[in-house]
Amino acid sequence: MAGVMTQVTTRGSAAAGGMDIAVRGVRRVFESHRGPVSVLEGLDLDVEAGDFVAILGPSGCGKSTLLRLIAGLDRPDGGQVELRGAEGTNTTSGGGIAYVFQDAHLLPWRDVLGNVVLPLELMGQSRRSRKTAALAAIEKVGLSEAVDRYPAQLSGGMRMRVSLARAMVTRPRLLLLDEPFAALDEITRQHLDEELRALWRESRMTVVFVTHSTSEAVYLAERAVVLSKRPARIVRDVLLKLPSDRPKDLRGTAEFARETAGVYAALEEGEILP
Ligand SMILES: Nc1ncnc2c1ncn2[C@@H]1O[C@H](COP(=O)(O)OP(=O)(O)O)[C@@H](O)[C@H]1O
Ligand SMILES: [Mg+2]
Repeated sequence: MAGVMTQVTTRGSAAAGGMDIAVRGVRRVFESHRGPVSVLEGLDLDVEAGDFVAILGPSGCGKSTLLRLIAGLDRPDGGQVELRGAEGTNTTSGGGIAYVFQDAHLLPWRDVLGNVVLPLELMGQSRRSRKTAALAAIEKVGLSEAVDRYPAQLSGGMRMRVSLARAMVTRPRLLLLDEPFAALDEITRQHLDEELRALWRESRMTVVFVTHSTSEAVYLAERAVVLSKRPARIVRDVLLKLPSDRPKDLRGTAEFARETAGVYAALEEGEILP
């Protein structure tokens, strides 16, 4: 594949706020003992700045691979990933990419404040401004009472809130989440979904959220992208026709059930087709 660009590039745009994502013909092949495994084979995906997109698909289809490629944590074997609106991103004002994993990945020897402040410390922000920013982020996720607790003293849901606050404290233009709430109980997960949706609405960031839950995707996102078995292709790409304001009882409505059924049908289609 000579001449195919393989690097992750960033290009200028005047608008602040979220980042645009352009995934163009991306190919990613892993070596295994059985030979090469083609995970992504010419995948195209565009996400507009400020959108909230959920990515669904069968286990092992390449969702995490796609997210890592978007983040620049991995390089494609072909094609390219372009992020627009990444300029102006620097080490003092933040505004870059934040990534949230299923495991909260907290430092056990640091309390809540110490964990949330960490990215700002690494960016070299002054002690006072980083503490103010961290306390504000902690308040937004409802953990003000727990600032001086250590990870071992927190529930799974609280740990994930810390992880979210640590991601938000840098005021990212692009927030990538890889099944972040999958290990939590249903009630906790729904609360976190509501908080994440509120955080997104008051910012202008772009969010890409990987989940295997159709109802979580429909509650959270403006758009759902359903991938097939590997090599992943887009089975369905739907705009979710739900109000922007999503009270929790939206989950019990007919319109919510209709959207969820549509995404579920696409998932089934992606499992069956080769
Ligand atoms: N670094 C790697 N080396 C080898 N194989 C990998 C690597 N990362 C992912 N894979 C394989 O690629 C496929 C897709 O993985 P992944 O993107 O994690 O899927 P998903 O997140 O959709 O469950 C899987 O078969 C996985 O085993
Ligand atoms: Mg995964």
